[in-house]
Amino acid sequence: WIIIHAHYLKQTSLPWLAPQAAAPGTSAALYKKPPPLRMPSQSLFNKSIALLFSKRSTRTRVAAETATVLLGGRALFLGREDIQLGVNESLRDSARVIGGMCEGIFARVGAHEEIEELAQHSPVPVLNALSSLWHPTQVLADLLTLHEHAQLFSATPNESGFAPSAPTPTQHVRGKGKLPRLPPLRPLTVAYVGDSANVLHDMLVTYPRLGHTIRVASPENEKYRAPKPVWDRLVQLGIEKDIFWTADPREAVHGADLVVTDTWISMGQEAEKEQRLKDFQGYQVTEQLCREGGAKPDWKFMHCLPRKEHEVDDEVFYGPRSLVFPEADNRKWTIMALFDLLFGKWDLLEQKKDI
Ligand code: CP
Ligand code: NVA
Repeated sequence: WIIIHAHYLKQTSLPWLAPQAAAPGTSAALYKKPPPLRMPSQSLFNKSIALLFSKRSTRTRVAAETATVLLGGRALFLGREDIQLGVNESLRDSARVIGGMCEGIFARVGAHEEIEELAQHSPVPVLNALSSLWHPTQVLADLLTLHEHAQLFSATPNESGFAPSAPTPTQHVRGKGKLPRLPPLRPLTVAYVGDSANVLHDMLVTYPRLGHTIRVASPENEKYRAPKPVWDRLVQLGIEKDIFWTADPREAVHGADLVVTDTWISMGQEAEKEQRLKDFQGYQVTEQLCREGGAKPDWKFMHCLPRKEHEVDDEVFYGPRSLVFPEADNRKWTIMALFDLLFGKWDLLEQKKDI
């Protein structure tokens, strides 16, 4: 539902943006025909959103700031050097104080418990902008990008036997004139090669529920496998058996429509750099690896970014298989959809009114 809403917001916002926002090569350039002119949602008019970031960010921060502007609101970037949090003030008190003046909190934290604590004590909704365990807004951008590029994936069923039929999304139209539908996506085989970190964890809890197959390769060591809270969630969702896990990257990419990786050294793991570079030898995504492993001939590539060359070589990263930059662009539209629904129309959501 959020992806369909992001698609709608993208279409309705584009005519209001400077033309370079849809320059060739951007994901907005896919939206060729200008839709009928309508006002994008102004649900954040006169509202302030706190961006509480204790770690670095390019995409998530820029997406959140630009999305807030489009929704008519104001984003306050509160980095770790800017406010009392973590030095003179507890998470609990900061959540209450910031939540007393802003209409939403988008927080990038270290340990996942920190976001739980913020959410527990904030009077307004708190959205996870990345934690040690999860990166939920990333998988939303990935899904929008996959739908937009659905025609790149050949119509053959995947190995799990799913027929190539995806649910047709509901037409999401307001006002006069029809907007193009979000293209349906057939079930894909998604291979992830790399560290079991926040980005993968959201893929694990998302893709199987949408009918996609997921295959993972990470080095033979417990610390590179999904931690207990992630497995607990998979068990709770009843999808833990749908995940194929191996230490062999070639085995993981077998039959893949899409190959994904992330950094081998997530923020906060810098001290482990040397060991990790050693442990992930052989995990670089390359044409050769995917050919030897038997990925589908037209496989595509995604990465949340930032990227290092040891994870994926330039041929794949900058080549025609790569969807990484449309994927990055779509951080904005999917975060905009979340902000619109959770921060802008929260009262309607609470009252379960039609939004
Ligand atoms: N993908 C992502 O979250 O990037 P940033 O760390 O730049 O926000
Ligand atoms: N796994 C990475 C994702 C960055 C967007 C990290 O946590 O640093």
